[in-house]
Amino acid sequence: MCGIVAVTGFKNALPLLINGLEKLEYRGYDSAGIAIINSESDNITCNKAEGKLKNLKSLLNKNNIPGTIGIGHTRWATHGKPEVKNAHPHCDSSGTVAVVQNGIIENYQDLKNKLEKEGVVFNSDTDTEVIPHLIQRELNTLGKLNLENNGSTLLVAVRNVITDLEGSYALAVLWAGAPNSLVVARRQAPLIIGLGEGEFMCASDTPAIANFTNIILPMEDEEIALLTPLGVEIYGANNERQYRNPISLNISEQIIDKMNFKHYMLKEIYDQPETAKNWLEKYLIKNSKNGQLEIDFPFDTNFFESIERIEIIACGTSKHAAMVGSFLLEQFAGIPTNVFYASEFRYSPPPLLPNILTIGVTQSGETADTIAAINMEITRRSLVKDENFKPNLIAITNRSDSSIGRQISNIIDIGAGIEIGVAATKTFYAQLLSFYGLAIQFAQIKGTQSKEEISKLILELFKLPPLLEDLIEKHNQSAEKLAHDFFNIKDVVFLGRGINYPIALEGALKLKEISYIHAAGYPAGEMKHGPIALLDKKVPVISIASPGEVFDKVISNAQEAKARDSYLIGIAPKCNGTEIFDYLMTIPESNELISPLLNIIPLQLLSYHIAAHRGLDVDQPRNLAKSVTVE
Ligand code: AGP
Repeated sequence: MCGIVAVTGFKNALPLLINGLEKLEYRGYDSAGIAIINSESDNITCNKAEGKLKNLKSLLNKNNIPGTIGIGHTRWATHGKPEVKNAHPHCDSSGTVAVVQNGIIENYQDLKNKLEKEGVVFNSDTDTEVIPHLIQRELNTLGKLNLENNGSTLLVAVRNVITDLEGSYALAVLWAGAPNSLVVARRQAPLIIGLGEGEFMCASDTPAIANFTNIILPMEDEEIALLTPLGVEIYGANNERQYRNPISLNISEQIIDKMNFKHYMLKEIYDQPETAKNWLEKYLIKNSKNGQLEIDFPFDTNFFESIERIEIIACGTSKHAAMVGSFLLEQFAGIPTNVFYASEFRYSPPPLLPNILTIGVTQSGETADTIAAINMEITRRSLVKDENFKPNLIAITNRSDSSIGRQISNIIDIGAGIEIGVAATKTFYAQLLSFYGLAIQFAQIKGTQSKEEISKLILELFKLPPLLEDLIEKHNQSAEKLAHDFFNIKDVVFLGRGINYPIALEGALKLKEISYIHAAGYPAGEMKHGPIALLDKKVPVISIASPGEVFDKVISNAQEAKARDSYLIGIAPKCNGTEIFDYLMTIPESNELISPLLNIIPLQLLSYHIAAHRGLDVDQPRNLAKSVTVE
């Protein structure tokens, strides 16, 4: 997490930095800071403020800091509390080197101990602060070697320092001794260079660059670059100069308006019928020979034939989409499937089995644990000299230009458009659809479902967009009403079974992350094995009861909760059995397999309205960030 931005060669660096940080605030908002080489004094001027970027803006209070080069940072705290002293940029003792960093320097304590023994005094509790001190020490040594070009001297100094760093990072360095040169470097954290004429920018993500240019160069892992108004030099881990063509950004995608919605999250919930429509238009085609609708993912269908098992790696909401996916892949397409938390998979991967398809799911495409777990899987499979163990990979992501997009060539681009709210809604929706698509394609190729069953499911998908519009409109009102009664509760239990168990988990996660109310999702049948002890009249139970295989079971589980005085909210169609609910958020009747795509809507809206009613910052909830780029 954390967002970094760096510019050089601009007439006026400050507004560019502020604008870049505005676009990166989704990556963290514990503090913000900017350092500029002041063209009046040739010194570094550094301003930092605790909390959101607006605090830094009011600190600057429209005062410009003249300068053509600078760096900026928006922080998600890892080491050290969210206080001004821990805000980036961090400087060395002489104040001539400034650094912004996104990542974690795992060996910072050893480095700090050594520097302290040399007499360096630290001003923060961060891991990052070791970097400017180390660079200054390196510059002193190099100064004695009398290198002529100051930019190159800075490049060499930073390169020497990063070889001693353990962990992951994306960093940008400013040195008053080279007042036109920026050095940037990355290891397992994203960094993208934007190219202009005599003006260059570097940032953690493309929206920060999009107002300036649509010509970009994403940096590869372990690369370091020198940016001056004369151009960009990129070097690989082996110190060899790298040459490659820049790519064009689709700028229109980067400009997002909140329209008349109070929060981006509500707008993004309302975007979902469009998300579904776009997804269906993109991935469902009519077979010109038999007129049948088919899934059309951009990879060779031979690829699917050898697959015997599937493993899915993801975090958070993406993992919940993966769990629905796993249900569909097993129950509809008949392929044994396992879902793993990426953070667990990395340290306890399952034994290697042949003919596995590995699917990485990440809307941002930058989640550190997911990227690392996929890398690990690629490596360990590549080491087995047997065709059947080769890595077969698919990425499901909203950002094909991200790290996972560069790692995996078979991409299902979910095409949800940029999501600003930290709580994922429409990207979850498009991830779910992608799993329906995969299950249909596997069932077709493996022949595990009849043509009729496949067509039936496809037709149900087609009916979604108008159904969603009605559902959102209706439950925007009912959720607002319920929020009025429930905004002060302390605990909520979500129940679901079968394909809707992951929806119960997602409902609970949404409520937790934006309203700070404790919520837990359970498979409804597990309640009596422990969680039922939590229930009393102060703990409402939200139960997802979709007609089908487990409907009666869920209703019985809800009865058990009612017997413990819990207020029961049902997410279900109006039908026999649902009269037990104290409040029913009505869902249209549907095929059980499709029901998650309907049930999620009232849950998203309920979380949204409870958080909004509590007056919380729905789009940027405390302690969270949109891209979790640290382990
Ligand atoms: C979603 O609401 C959460 N903020 C979070 O759980 C998120 O889904 C998780 O961090 C994974 O992100 P990714 O999809 O970008 O990998």
